[in-house]
Amino acid sequence: MASSCLSGLGWIFGLFFSFSFVFFKNPDSPGKSSANVSPEYRTAYHFQPAKYWINDPNGPVYYNGVYHLFYQYNPYAAVWGNISWGHSVSTDLVHWTGVGLALSPTDPYDIDGCFSGSITILPDNTPVIIYTGITSKGEQVQNIAYPKNVSDPYLREWIKSDSNPVIEAADGVNASEFRDPTTAWRGRDGLWRILIGNKVGLGGQAILYRSSDFVHWVQAKEPLHSSADRTGVWECPDFYSYDGKYVLKVSLQVNWVDHYMLGGYDEEKDLFEPSEEFVGYRNWRRYDHGKSYASKTFVDKLNGRRISWAWLNESDTVSDAVEKGWAGIQTTPRVVTLDSNGRQLVQWPVKELESLRKKRVQLHDAELKTGGLLEIKGIRASQAKHGLLIHAIASFFIFWITYADVEVEFEVSDLDGAEHFDPTWLVDPQKLCTEKGASVQGGVGPFGLLVLASEDREEQTAVYFRVFKDHNNTYKVLMCSDQTRSSLRTELDKPAYGGFVDIDIKKDGKISLRTLIDHSVVESFGGGGRTCITARVYPTFLAKSDAHLYAFNNGSTSAKISELKAWTMAKAHIG
Ligand SMILES: *[C@@H]1O[C@H](CO)[C@@H](O)[C@H](O)[C@H]1NC(C)=O
Ligand SMILES: *[C@@H]1O[C@H](CO)[C@@H](O)[C@H](O)[C@H]1NC(C)=O
Ligand SMILES: *[C@@H]1O[C@H](CO)[C@@H](O)[C@H](O)[C@H]1NC(C)=O
Ligand SMILES: *[C@@H]1O[C@H](CO)[C@@H](O)[C@H](O)[C@H]1NC(C)=O
Ligand SMILES: *[C@@H]1O[C@H](CO)[C@@H](O)[C@H](O)[C@H]1NC(C)=O
Ligand SMILES: *[C@@H]1O[C@H](CO)[C@@H](O)[C@H](O)[C@H]1NC(C)=O
Repeated sequence: MASSCLSGLGWIFGLFFSFSFVFFKNPDSPGKSSANVSPEYRTAYHFQPAKYWINDPNGPVYYNGVYHLFYQYNPYAAVWGNISWGHSVSTDLVHWTGVGLALSPTDPYDIDGCFSGSITILPDNTPVIIYTGITSKGEQVQNIAYPKNVSDPYLREWIKSDSNPVIEAADGVNASEFRDPTTAWRGRDGLWRILIGNKVGLGGQAILYRSSDFVHWVQAKEPLHSSADRTGVWECPDFYSYDGKYVLKVSLQVNWVDHYMLGGYDEEKDLFEPSEEFVGYRNWRRYDHGKSYASKTFVDKLNGRRISWAWLNESDTVSDAVEKGWAGIQTTPRVVTLDSNGRQLVQWPVKELESLRKKRVQLHDAELKTGGLLEIKGIRASQAKHGLLIHAIASFFIFWITYADVEVEFEVSDLDGAEHFDPTWLVDPQKLCTEKGASVQGGVGPFGLLVLASEDREEQTAVYFRVFKDHNNTYKVLMCSDQTRSSLRTELDKPAYGGFVDIDIKKDGKISLRTLIDHSVVESFGGGGRTCITARVYPTFLAKSDAHLYAFNNGSTSAKISELKAWTMAKAHIG
């Protein structure tokens, strides 16, 4: 989208607000396509290729000054099929350039698809891909590939090994559910180790393989870990540690959720031992309580941090994807750390993303009384049809918020009015958010943001908190992302997602929220990234007008915004 910016008048109103002018939208914006497939749904800074279908992130790596992101890709259509490895590169994790296909289904061992996998950097500094190939018989095998030229800074071409397939399912292992090898790690014995996701009976397992040369692999007697619970196949396993505390993440097709466990790793026996025994996989911890799947992490050697990517599926229909010509995006790259109390992971968008922040609106100490609604205003893009500067000034305090980054801190000093907590709610926060929506009055909360809202608020996505009083005078904080009113269209998947936030609201007296708004995605981080909820939304009004941003409180106790900062974002180069 072309836009023009003009700033410099800001000082006149500069006490509370700063802003920019964005006074016309691309006149080429097609009026030809139906509102269902508005170009306004394409993201400005969440990764997606120029066109067609993507799903899982694959083989993320930092190598010789360049970040690489590969992804499951259909080079022919906006639906799943012909699965290849798309490949994009970046020097800052923000702007991306597509450099062609790294892997295509061309050989008997991957002719029906080059499925997910990982990259490991060998001691001689050669990166190697290990991925799942689907054979003509529909069996899943593991293959490897090396860069054709390691001096090519973008590692554009990859050569599949003559030794492929390097791993075939052993007798007794279901070859239809045998996929997604991890990045390898080396044990004290010098052997490489990888995990492969599998299903045994109704449960899942992470099968361990060892190798001295990355070509010849031997299956360990025991899986690293398995579950007798009805988890189905474990897809996209990921295994890593923080100072001796280990994380095992698996992606479960039964509920399309990335679950993880924390625990120890017995290196002698090559076994993972969860430190908490959760009964039922639904109670395992989650990376994200919304629509996010098949995540994969990598270590960014440049900055000494672990970064996670995950696939965000559409919530729109397949026919709309075909008409739009694209489907699937990635989360923002998130730094993953272990919470200081050791109880859970914390995720936060990489700091590089802040380089896209442009004009800022800011407010302090704004009281949100019972029933209160506060529009966060700056300046908005006026429509080309309304003319230029004159209109821009007329709509001075409207904030252009179709893609933005919002950070807010809510202060709650009085918890007396909190609703009573029923411990049975713990197992299903999504159900609780569905029953206690933003318009259901509470005690302390619901308070939060309304994002991607139309002027009449008929369309809105509410991201909010609700505080409950537990039986023993402790408090539970619920975070919701409610899409039920996000679009007037009824055929979309519009759940109210939810998760509890592990903070001590009594001690802290406040709770933070960061929400990344980007056309058709709302990616939210509660309590400093302790609870993440990502949603896909398709408001119909976006086809013709800009989005509004509000803060609201529908609790019976007043809440305060101690600080709010909202930035318009620059458009990243993605593709
Ligand atoms: C896969 O590619 C072939 C062309 O090579 C095409 O005819 C077919 O429609 C594609 N299938 C999908 C699902 O994209
Ligand atoms: C490998 O890549 C480097 C850097 O782009 C280039 O100079 C060199 O010619 C390439 N080598 C081959 C054999 O293509
Ligand atoms: C192997 O997995 C496939 C796909 O889930 C399933 O249909 C089949 O029954 C499994 N076979 C065995 C022997 O469990
Ligand atoms: C992706 O989204 C579509 C539309 O909501 C849904 O039908 C499909 O099951 C989803 N797939 C996954 C893997 O989440
Ligand atoms: C707050 O509650 C009122 C009354 O139920 C409702 O009209 C309004 O939409 C609610 N606000 C939000 C954000 O749902
Ligand atoms: C309060 O009860 C909950 C269970 O409902 C428990 O998890 C928590 O440890 C208890 N807190 C204290 C301070 O006793």
